[in-house]
Amino acid sequence: MQYNFPKNFMWGAATSAAQVEGGWNEGGRGPSIMDILGGSVDGSVHRHQTEKVMPDVYYPGHVASDFYHNFKEDIALMGQMGLKSYRMSISWSRVFPKGDEAVPNEEGLKFYDEVFEELSKYNIEPIVTILHYDAPLYLADHYGGWSNRKMIDFYINYCEVLFNRYKGKVKHWITFNEINCLLVPFGVITAGAMNMSYKSQDNTEQLRVQALHHQFVASAKAVALGHRIDNNNQIGCMIAYMCNYPLTCHPDDIRLAQKEDQIKNMLCGDVMIRGSYPVFARRYFKEKDIHIEMFPEDEEILKDGTVDFYSMSYYMTNCIGNDKSKELTAGNLVYGMKNPYLEATEWGWQIDPIGLRWVLNHVYDRYQIPIMIVENGMGTVDIVQDGRIHDVYRIDYLRQHIEQIGESIHDGVDVIAYTTWSALDLVSLSGGTMRKRYGFIYVDKDDEGNGDLKRIPKDSFYWYQKVIENNGEVL
Ligand code: BG6
Repeated sequence: MQYNFPKNFMWGAATSAAQVEGGWNEGGRGPSIMDILGGSVDGSVHRHQTEKVMPDVYYPGHVASDFYHNFKEDIALMGQMGLKSYRMSISWSRVFPKGDEAVPNEEGLKFYDEVFEELSKYNIEPIVTILHYDAPLYLADHYGGWSNRKMIDFYINYCEVLFNRYKGKVKHWITFNEINCLLVPFGVITAGAMNMSYKSQDNTEQLRVQALHHQFVASAKAVALGHRIDNNNQIGCMIAYMCNYPLTCHPDDIRLAQKEDQIKNMLCGDVMIRGSYPVFARRYFKEKDIHIEMFPEDEEILKDGTVDFYSMSYYMTNCIGNDKSKELTAGNLVYGMKNPYLEATEWGWQIDPIGLRWVLNHVYDRYQIPIMIVENGMGTVDIVQDGRIHDVYRIDYLRQHIEQIGESIHDGVDVIAYTTWSALDLVSLSGGTMRKRYGFIYVDKDDEGNGDLKRIPKDSFYWYQKVIENNGEVL
């Protein structure tokens, strides 16, 4: 089958600042909530968080893949791969070390000037996530993070600086990474997304939903502001698509899957695209005894700040059902039930390319706005053999997903970008490990921080280069 990807399709790859940059205390940067996350203590995916940066703890993000010092070489490799777009994020605490200052850190802004300049040399379009889980630690310690409404003003101040400074250089913006993760049970990652300590006693769903409301308002204000500053700006939402199939055809399972989809996926999309809370949210909040404190102007703000495109991360699908004895499987934010028809990665994430087509059709039916898949990829242990990495499994994974994107475009879905996770190996978010590798470019570093950070293009690098070259015609 030959696929017809649009001529200007944004083939790309993605990373986030806290997972690749390193340079955590250089160039005037302040610590972020991600800088107090250690690795996994017991070999599982659960990272530990310390109260502050401790001298005797190893924090994998402090050096990460050292993009901060290697960005020229890394971007040159992206250029060699032929990437049309690079989804990256800006580290808020590099721009505002504490987060509540009036004046930004010039050195931090300069770093991104150079990154954008380098990207433009290779005609790579940046897609910039404004906040990817790494708000300044100072805001967590002094304001309690996103449950505090004051965060909205700090965030808007940060956005205003970015929109003005990078006007003309960045056209595609994403306000919050995986905003819907505030709706999943509390863990280190949701704590990071809320910018508060994992150990907080008051980490209730009430608080998370209040924090989410503040992020909705912040995002809507940012969209309106971004459009005012430059009407060429395209600003999107980003949803971690948690696709759950009903485990059986029992009507109770069908309904359970529908409800899960409404709350975990559609609620956020509806607020950010349609500009108001969906009707089903009312009953959900009532039954959970959740009361959102809203300001009278909030309704108007949400209406005025609807996004231009929908973006998502998609890694897997799970099953959901009423029979609680069924075997569970892993996922990036939530655990679900095993699907007997699917294979899984060594981390237990079920591989489901057709699920991506289902999700794309489902989302497009509802919103009819352009869609970007800004994260999709396979985390594996890669072996270096004679200086090369033969990651055929990654090529297979990506090929099958690209085929389904091609099918979806054929179905009529307006998919405009595909930025795989990840451009280069980076620190895994959930486990804090390096060994769970996603990149096209290998980075020589292990879980204890050993390695010379040398870059090696994997076989998938050369394969993706060809895919881009022929615009997805030959996979
Ligand atoms: C997404 C995040 O949920 O999943 C990324 O936006 C993350 O930051 C990716 O890295 C993969 O998850 P993990 O835990 O394997 O790194």
